Amino acid sequence: MNAKKTITSKAPGRINIIGDHTDYNNGFVMPAAIDLHTTFTFTLNESESTCKIESIDMNDIYEFDLKELGKGKSWQKYIDGILFQLQENGYKISGFDAVFSGTVPLGSGLSSSASLEASFLNGLNTLFNLGINPLKMVQMSQLAEHYVGVKCGIMDQFVSFMGKKDHALLLNCATNKYELIPIDLKDYTFLLINSNVSHSLASSEYNTRRETCERSLEKIKKILPVQTLSDLKVSDLETIEKSLNETEYKRVSHVVHENDNVHQTKQAFTEGNLTKVGKLLYKGHKSISQNYEVSCPELDFIIDFCKNEKEILGARMMGGGFGGCALVLIRKTEVDSFIDRISESYSAKFDFQCSPIHIKLGNGATIINQN
Ligand code: GLA
Repeated sequence: MNAKKTITSKAPGRINIIGDHTDYNNGFVMPAAIDLHTTFTFTLNESESTCKIESIDMNDIYEFDLKELGKGKSWQKYIDGILFQLQENGYKISGFDAVFSGTVPLGSGLSSSASLEASFLNGLNTLFNLGINPLKMVQMSQLAEHYVGVKCGIMDQFVSFMGKKDHALLLNCATNKYELIPIDLKDYTFLLINSNVSHSLASSEYNTRRETCERSLEKIKKILPVQTLSDLKVSDLETIEKSLNETEYKRVSHVVHENDNVHQTKQAFTEGNLTKVGKLLYKGHKSISQNYEVSCPELDFIIDFCKNEKEILGARMMGGGFGGCALVLIRKTEVDSFIDRISESYSAKFDFQCSPIHIKLGNGATIINQN
């Protein structure tokens, strides 16, 4: 019997411990891959260019011809984005069928889209022996996301490919060099509280934040010899204040302090000082909420609630913002009772529920089965 070639590929979503809205400013981020994934199974179908992809979760099928890409809607656009990238970079593939499903909750700021892109591209790379190196796959996945409409930085795709179990990545987005930081939370754990506010504003506001940063940089370059906002130190802020309007100054101020937060958090993990990690999470949240203004009342409520909990060391919103999850550093034994308390207060305040998501730190993209 001549069995058709089959590949199963999976890639994770992510949390971001600290360093938000710094990646596209050539700064520093500290994300970690989690044990929630998108999983694709591919089969070569022996046609020259006909493909069929089924999303089990969406109960939807996308059929297309590789010679006529670009007709996809919703999740199908990520597929088109990756296939356009293969085409633009001269990689040749032929017809295939695929089925996929995921455990990364959609719209919750855990990068379900990056996990889809990474799982899909990594699977095709193996299925067709394309030999694309991991960093190139990261960059192609980032551009696929741009195709869909968010001019994201490199963080989510990077960690979805490169993440390692029980580690975070300290990534320098200017050079794409990274360090693996062992994460030992001792008696504590990272708990996610999903605000269940779906971040509908996210893509337009995200792109606006990015433009404001670019405009601010042009103004700053006239007075200081810098290439990116991440070349600025906290002590430069006073010098540049007068050359920016109030909004620009707030955005730049966030980026500069947030880069510093990433380095300090690394130091705190290295010292095993989780109390300090927690304080930095609160500090990061204040800056992203008040200076970068990408939080929302529901996330701010969760973070304020955490501040009154004795067994919580710190918390912050994560990712693009305007909804999604808060990351909470909490004593393991307190998790269940905290969930009861926050759930009750949250629904009393907002008339809808928040929900806990339990995660562990996991590995980056892998091929789990091939024959
Ligand atoms: C989204 C983007 C990332 C990053 C974060 C904010 O997740 O995809 O590139 O900019 O927002 O830190």
